[in-house]
Amino acid sequence: SPRAIVSPSVLASNFAQLGDEIRRMMKCGAEWVHMDVMDGHFVPNITMGAPVLASVNKDVKDVFMDCHMMVSDPEKWVKPVAEAGGKSYTFHIEALADPSKAPELVDLIHSHGMRAAVAISPHTPSSAISTSLGQKVDMLLVMTVVPGAGGQKFMRECVPKVSELRERFPEKDIQVDGGVGPGTIGCCARAGSNVIVAGTALFGASDPKSVIDDFKKQVDE
Ligand code: DX5
Ligand code: ZN
Repeated sequence: SPRAIVSPSVLASNFAQLGDEIRRMMKCGAEWVHMDVMDGHFVPNITMGAPVLASVNKDVKDVFMDCHMMVSDPEKWVKPVAEAGGKSYTFHIEALADPSKAPELVDLIHSHGMRAAVAISPHTPSSAISTSLGQKVDMLLVMTVVPGAGGQKFMRECVPKVSELRERFPEKDIQVDGGVGPGTIGCCARAGSNVIVAGTALFGASDPKSVIDDFKKQVDE
């Protein structure tokens, strides 16, 4: 599988000191930072939007913003997020009224200079990602909690979808997100995920560097 990448979810950070929190994780070896954008419609909560991304991009040198768009109109935010400095743009397949339009959305994301990724929520089977869509995106995100909040319990029943997608798309980045920590990284890594999102397990850790090192070690094993 591709190389290990750790993407701390800022949802578990102190939003009043976002720049400092992100720098802290980057110093501990995090390659990316996972920005959870929620619109109060696709999911009940509201978190942040393009203005916050733009401020972070200005404030944190060399930040790679991995934007997880939990929004109902993913096409609507491609341009604002790209202009705010987003580097990767993940949309949910469930957000599209017509999933056959997903390849067009991937083209739009790419035309704005970002990596494109597609996410599946726990209730969505891996078969919702067609072969052509999987080949077109840069990354597949398998949610291991119902999107909407940090700090939830890892849903082990989602892990087989990681194995299925790893088998179908051996070269792609596969991300896991939700309840991932020292106790759950093992099964994610063995199933073939290489991009690890963690909020609570990193921002709540007394020694986040050791947790990040362990994540990478388990992915690379
Ligand atoms: C859930 C978000 C996740 C979440 C991860 O809706 O997409 O990124 O913040 O946080 P933890 O690791 O605390 O489950
Ligand atoms: Zn997320």
